[in-house]
Amino acid sequence: MEFRDKVIFVAGGTTGINFGIAKSFAEQGAKVAVLSRKQENIDAALAALRAKGGQAIGFAADVRQIDSLAAAFAGVVAKWGAIDVLISGAAGNFVAPASELSANGFKTVIDIDLLGCFNVMRAAYPHLRKPGAAIVNISAPQSWLPTPSQIHVCAAKAGIDQITRTAAMEWGPQGIRVNAIAPGPIADTEGMKRLAPTPASAQAWVESVPLRRFGTKDELGRVAQWLCSDAAAYVTGVVLPVDGGWSLGGSSAMTHALTAV
Ligand code: COA
Repeated sequence: MEFRDKVIFVAGGTTGINFGIAKSFAEQGAKVAVLSRKQENIDAALAALRAKGGQAIGFAADVRQIDSLAAAFAGVVAKWGAIDVLISGAAGNFVAPASELSANGFKTVIDIDLLGCFNVMRAAYPHLRKPGAAIVNISAPQSWLPTPSQIHVCAAKAGIDQITRTAAMEWGPQGIRVNAIAPGPIADTEGMKRLAPTPASAQAWVESVPLRRFGTKDELGRVAQWLCSDAAAYVTGVVLPVDGGWSLGGSSAMTHALTAV
């Protein structure tokens, strides 16, 4: 229970893998704040986090509007004093070939994923407990794997990796660690429902993962906890794949072909 009474802020923490991370910290006794654009998602997340006696509060804000984040961070600090851990995972993605993607579609994902990640880090910075604070940004294998129909996501996530490393350099002297997780295929997520809509497509995904299974939200949560724990006190500026080895070659046609022989 290393995180008992620590304050964890999860941007995008009401659904999907971000909620899984929020829940895993709550199960370790942390006080958890979640942020989403949608009040109904906040209400559902808070009910689930509080169901087992966890302490949780929620804020409605758009990560594209830095001013709307200020009230959320001020609210957390007014209630709990400071922020020990920041998880920045708000994202909006869709599958679209570059030849059909509008400039505004590209910009929309850059604004939510990349600008949003900067805004969250920047707005949280004055409130982080220094030294000792830890930030985990949510990247993706698209940040280094060129992926068709994901040009907007590839650009945004590559940017997230670089703001992770740059902030790690700038904020390290103050005792703030900044790392990122790049999740591979994770079960029971909106993304995998879209990418693997049928049993056959899910099986093809499984076969592209060296560990031959999807990951779980709980596994991501435990990696996030490790990155924010004393056990990782000398780890900063790292983008850590949590993908069962998928990004070692999972998107390569040759890998699939040779595996099938
Ligand atoms: N394919 C191509 N372009 C798309 C698109 C899609 N599936 N979805 C949105 N766009 C484009 C729109 O056409 C628009 O561009 P245009 O003005 O040139 O037509 C631009 O993106 C903005 O769309 P809009 O719906 O106004 O943006 P939004 O801020 O309301 O929502 C998303 C953006 C990404 C959140 C929305 O597309 C969405 O709901 N995605 C699915 C949910 C999701 O991403 N969950 C997270 C999974 S990680």
